[in-house]
Amino acid sequence: MTVSKMTARDVPAAAALDRMLFSAECWSEEDFYTSLEDPSRIFFAAYEGELFLGCCGLQQCFDQGDILTVGVHPDHRCKGIGTALMVAMLNAFAAQGGAALFLEVRASNASARALYEKFGFRQIGLRRNYYQQPAEDGLVYCLEVHA
Ligand SMILES: CC(C)(COP(=O)(O)OP(=O)(O)OC[C@H]1O[C@@H](n2cnc3c(N)ncnc32)[C@H](O)[C@@H]1OP(=O)(O)O)[C@@H](O)C(=O)NCCC(=O)NCCS
Repeated sequence: MTVSKMTARDVPAAAALDRMLFSAECWSEEDFYTSLEDPSRIFFAAYEGELFLGCCGLQQCFDQGDILTVGVHPDHRCKGIGTALMVAMLNAFAAQGGAALFLEVRASNASARALYEKFGFRQIGLRRNYYQQPAEDGLVYCLEVHA
């Protein structure tokens, strides 16, 4: 498996996966293309050969950041791909002087919560009905990154 910075060539596969995973709240190809042109954002894609496995992205402003998306194709879960994507993101964040990284996750999303907690993210807040379709609370997580 390889993880590298996302480029325009990855966008159709990334948008297709996003549609599959997040239907109502998914990003369009246009959203991904726009993000790739935004210097405050960095995205990574995971591949096995030519097979697109998943992607992730964050936005950074000075030493603060937000994880925007993490997704692995359902056929390839529990093989360490989500972990590899998180490592790539956290390394890039730290290398750019990142100190505090935030994210929101559905309260019922046990696998994502376990992934984030494995990296030391801790819940710092709760946003009632933050998500729609279905309506659900969002948990706010934060990781303090030490240089
Ligand atoms: C969350 C997600 C990215 C994890 O990807 P993955 O490639 O399966 O993750 P990994 O194989 O690297 O597993 C990492 C850790 O996540 C946890 N985990 C993964 N799947 C799990 C499951 N089904 N149940 C509980 N914990 C799970 C474990 O702690 C695991 O660590 P371990 O293998 O050391 O025990 C994947 O399930 C996914 O794409 N979900 C749908 C999209 C999504 O919800 N994204 C997050 C939005 S906030």
